[in-house]
Amino acid sequence: MLDRRTAPAQDIAMMKAIRFHEFGPPDVLRYEDVPVPEPRAGEVRIRVHAGTVNRVLDVALRAGKQPQRAPALPCIPGVDCAGTIDAVGPGVTRFKPGQRVASAGTMPLDIVGENERAAYRGPIGMMGIKRPGGFADLVCVPACAVDLLPEGLGFHEAAVALRHVPTAWNLLVNVAAVKPGEWVLIMGAAGNLGSIGIQLAKNVLGARVIATAGSDERVALGRSLGAEHCINYNKQDLRDEVLKITDGKGVNVVYDNIANPQVLPKAFKALGYEGRLVTAGAHGGPNVTIDFFHLYDHRITIRGTPGHKEGDVPLCFQAVADGKIKLQIAQVLPLSRAAEAHRLIESDPGTGKIVLDPTMG
Ligand SMILES: NC(=O)c1ccc[n+]([C@@H]2O[C@H](COP(=O)([O-])OP(=O)(O)OC[C@H]3O[C@@H](n4cnc5c(N)ncnc54)[C@H](OP(=O)(O)O)[C@@H]3O)[C@@H](O)[C@H]2O)c1
Repeated sequence: MLDRRTAPAQDIAMMKAIRFHEFGPPDVLRYEDVPVPEPRAGEVRIRVHAGTVNRVLDVALRAGKQPQRAPALPCIPGVDCAGTIDAVGPGVTRFKPGQRVASAGTMPLDIVGENERAAYRGPIGMMGIKRPGGFADLVCVPACAVDLLPEGLGFHEAAVALRHVPTAWNLLVNVAAVKPGEWVLIMGAAGNLGSIGIQLAKNVLGARVIATAGSDERVALGRSLGAEHCINYNKQDLRDEVLKITDGKGVNVVYDNIANPQVLPKAFKALGYEGRLVTAGAHGGPNVTIDFFHLYDHRITIRGTPGHKEGDVPLCFQAVADGKIKLQIAQVLPLSRAAEAHRLIESDPGTGKIVLDPTMG
């Protein structure tokens, strides 16, 4: 009997995958046998070693709380993956079996040439939502949506890096254009985007970082990641503390991604003259009261910008491989324990990512 985790995929007809056939509690996630997918023209097949579990794109999606995303049922979730190329479809020349790669997020749904991502105008959707995702032994994705991993970057780190670092990079580098010495207030210090934002702002951009979170434990994590000042917004007034730290000037940038209606209004009032608020998330809201006097009086810009620029991904991977950004991985679990991973995320705001690894079972 061949071991499906090590046998060449061409020698096995079925693989293991997580699927849900209806929305509901974590128990709707089933560890099932499904046919091994064949790469179409322009696609590669990846043997998955890591896929991240996400609060919105996995947990809320499975619970039926993301109706706007309308996943195709039955759904193999998993909006990213890292692993090795197992096979390439017709027309793929950039990749070959054995290469270490990662893939994530929104990508073409049609067949598309391996170099045509920028020019592609057909339907797009996320892997794990509109096309089969990474919670499987093997997954096919368009070659144009695949990135090579640098030396020194493991699969678990790569999946987490690709999921979060480019978003943080885009917000702080491209959108907020943080300059060395500027003050940046990072919300959700212990969260995925928050913990990366602290390190990116400080270690890559040379900014001065204030981080905030809602518990002492999460504040302590922000401090351990290098934030110069940390504030528990449940114990101290966020705006007052920020103004004290910045000699009354306020911060140049607020990096949010949460939209907590109790906290974001105070962070907004802590923005200084020509401040920039950047965000790509609103799971704690989405409705938040904004002081429009402060907005126009301080010439503030608010920019919501999900996604990232393709050319940034290698820079993000390198920053992680070089140790400038350390990723918070709470646990690595076998793929078969996906439901447990969902329960853990539902029960805890968390300080770190859960990664599923199909090679562990
Ligand atoms: N690639 C990406 O990472 C990406 C891309 C696009 C959009 N987003 C969006 O960005 C947001 C942040 O993602 P993430 O992975 O960084 O999130 P996360 O780590 O799961 O959570 C970030 C922080 O949100 C706060 N929080 C958690 N649950 C909350 C709740 N129910 N109400 C209020 N606050 C809560 C906690 O901070 P406190 O200490 O303040 O409680 C937590 O540390 C999500 O909405 C996500 O969909 C992410």
